[in-house]
Amino acid sequence: MFDPVEKLKEYIRFASVSTDSAFKEQMELTRDFAAGLVESLGLSVEIVDTKGHPIVLGRRGGDPSWPHVLIYGHYDVQPADPPELWETGPFEPIEKDGRLFGRGAADNKGPQMAHLAAVGQLLEEQPDLPLRITFILEGEEEIGSPSLRPFLQERRAELSEADLVLLSDTLSPSAEQMVVTVGLRGVIELEVRVTGPNGDLHSGLHGGAVYNPVQALTEICASLHTADNRVDIAGFYDDVAEVEDWERDELAKLGGDEEQYKTLVGVDAFHAMEGYTPFEAVRYLPTLEFNGIGGGYQGEGSKTIVPSKAFAKITCRLVGNQDPETIFDLVEKAVLDRAPQGVRVEVKRGHKGAPYLVVPPGRPNTPGDQPERLARAFTAADAAISQVFGRPPLFLREGGSIPIIADIKSTLGLDSVMIGLFLPEDNLHAPNESMDLGVLENGIQVSKRILESLAKG
Ligand code: BES
Ligand code: MN
Repeated sequence: MFDPVEKLKEYIRFASVSTDSAFKEQMELTRDFAAGLVESLGLSVEIVDTKGHPIVLGRRGGDPSWPHVLIYGHYDVQPADPPELWETGPFEPIEKDGRLFGRGAADNKGPQMAHLAAVGQLLEEQPDLPLRITFILEGEEEIGSPSLRPFLQERRAELSEADLVLLSDTLSPSAEQMVVTVGLRGVIELEVRVTGPNGDLHSGLHGGAVYNPVQALTEICASLHTADNRVDIAGFYDDVAEVEDWERDELAKLGGDEEQYKTLVGVDAFHAMEGYTPFEAVRYLPTLEFNGIGGGYQGEGSKTIVPSKAFAKITCRLVGNQDPETIFDLVEKAVLDRAPQGVRVEVKRGHKGAPYLVVPPGRPNTPGDQPERLARAFTAADAAISQVFGRPPLFLREGGSIPIIADIKSTLGLDSVMIGLFLPEDNLHAPNESMDLGVLENGIQVSKRILESLAKG
């Protein structure tokens, strides 16, 4: 079996930035590397070409009565800019203080490696392990998985035969306290474009007569929240799922420190909706965020104009049971309804992804028909994490999104067991990303135990 840390270094060397076509060749090389890696575990590999970046599918078949686990990961990474903020090259992996630095180390090559290495070691130790395994490694997670969705539809018959999905692409609060993620937020993305006069105007000649698009846009944007940070759109919260008592108990065990959180992000106060701590707000509530805003003169000095255009980029994070399409409609309607006369307002829709919730076994709201093998995987994860990390995991919802997980549920009927293998200090999507190598090693042991336990059932 390969050395997982050395393999991870090789993996990181590939600059698999999915969003930028300048990296197309690197994407192809990464795909081939990932395919080779899966093949080296003794699985058969199929590279599935798509309109975008291909999917690497690895299969270990077996008797149809054997349990069948799908293992998900993504081989694409976020862009590495700005390069000047990296202390070492983003695609030149470096080991330092028990961490491996490089773009994608934590999101998602390292956590994914935990499962790849676990399968490799397990099959070496137990070549006859009665377990069917299918790896799905996609190259488009960071751009919203556009090709994986149709792929799930096309392969529905085969893939829905599986019992559950196992993955690691979520957060744990520290190397001592692991989390099994039981909820993901969904996301919708839109851009509001406001157009006023047919070109920038001299504000001395026309200012005061013509509605300023930047003013109109900011008025619309400002109307979308109340003072206590509630989204001020009728119906926005209608479908928000209740939070169960057991979930609040789990979060209480996390014991988040608000002062520490303030220092971490560099703010002097939080702005969560009334009645919610910041830790609750990011897990339990939907948001409407302005990701960027522009229009008019942006250069040095000043310019006396009434600009022609303004835009705002907006995303909403959604929570269980909100429907992305419904929220798109509500937000679009609110924006258009609030558009004043004198400017033209358009809403352009981008990606969407549904939120996801799963209930582990033994909770008051566990579905009565929860499949036995799914329940077993959760129980095995609990036991494995307790043994390997020395402390039982918390079962928490997460604020981030992996939209394909909800699609897997809706198209294949499969739930996901998500073991959080990256940490707050890993710098996801930021310069100097890294992976804790202790967590990686423990993650391998946890994954092996879960797979072994599944094979027994
Ligand atoms: N691995 C992350 C999701 C994540 C982030 C989970 C933080 C837990 C904590 C994933 O790769 C990601 O970044 N997802 C995007 C999805 C978006 C592009 C649709 C996200 O959450 O912004
Ligand atoms: Mn990820």
